[in-house]
Amino acid sequence: MKLFVYHTPELTPIDLVPECAIAVDVLRATTTMATVLAVGGEAVQVFSDLEQLMAVSEKYSPQKRLRAGERGGSKVPGFDLGNSPLDCTPELVKGRRLFISTTNGTRALQRIQDAKVVLAAAFVNRATVVRYVLEKQPETVWIVGSGWEGSFSLEDTACAGAIAHSILQQTNLPPDEQAGNDEVFGAIALYSQWQDNLLGLFHHASHGKRLLRLNCHEDLKYCSQTDILDVLPIQQEPGVLINQK
Ligand code: MLT
Repeated sequence: MKLFVYHTPELTPIDLVPECAIAVDVLRATTTMATVLAVGGEAVQVFSDLEQLMAVSEKYSPQKRLRAGERGGSKVPGFDLGNSPLDCTPELVKGRRLFISTTNGTRALQRIQDAKVVLAAAFVNRATVVRYVLEKQPETVWIVGSGWEGSFSLEDTACAGAIAHSILQQTNLPPDEQAGNDEVFGAIALYSQWQDNLLGLFHHASHGKRLLRLNCHEDLKYCSQTDILDVLPIQQEPGVLINQK
């Protein structure tokens, strides 16, 4: 197995498709998706375009759907939800499909949707994603940070490092044999530096600061927890993720 880390969707190669691609948007899209599926959401369907989301979700009855729209960290007017994982309670979500469009996370998932296996990961479900990768042993694994509008995001690359670190720790191969690019070592170094204070890292991150300005302190705390959800968001058809049990 060869691991590759890409800091943003824009940095992924355009002429290749990996066997397994993992999208990471710690703050907050993939944390929200993992939470929705962990508490019994039927599926998560991602859109980059808000109008398309509205049109497709119209075919679902209001009792069977939730529409989540986020731009710039804030809820889009007219949507049921923004992008806070804390709003995704079992009472609200159980049995419903989440139709979601966010600034970067949903675009990252769309960018990698042609991979044979597509997963969504955050710190909250890191262990479950790693377990799946170790079981299936895909030949190539891309871990793709969502970044912010094309720029590097500290928290996504730190989570990519957490995933890569755990995979390398549990396989007894030399890191040089498993790392497909330099970013793997950079991401692991970042995670190693901050693993005991991820909330502190989020306070340095530009999107962490943006969310703090929007009073999302509790979201940051929630997203900083590692391995708390046993959930594997896996693509069932392009753009649709379910929890593989
Ligand atoms: C995104 O997709 O850029 C984020 O998830 C934004 C957010 O924190 O809502």
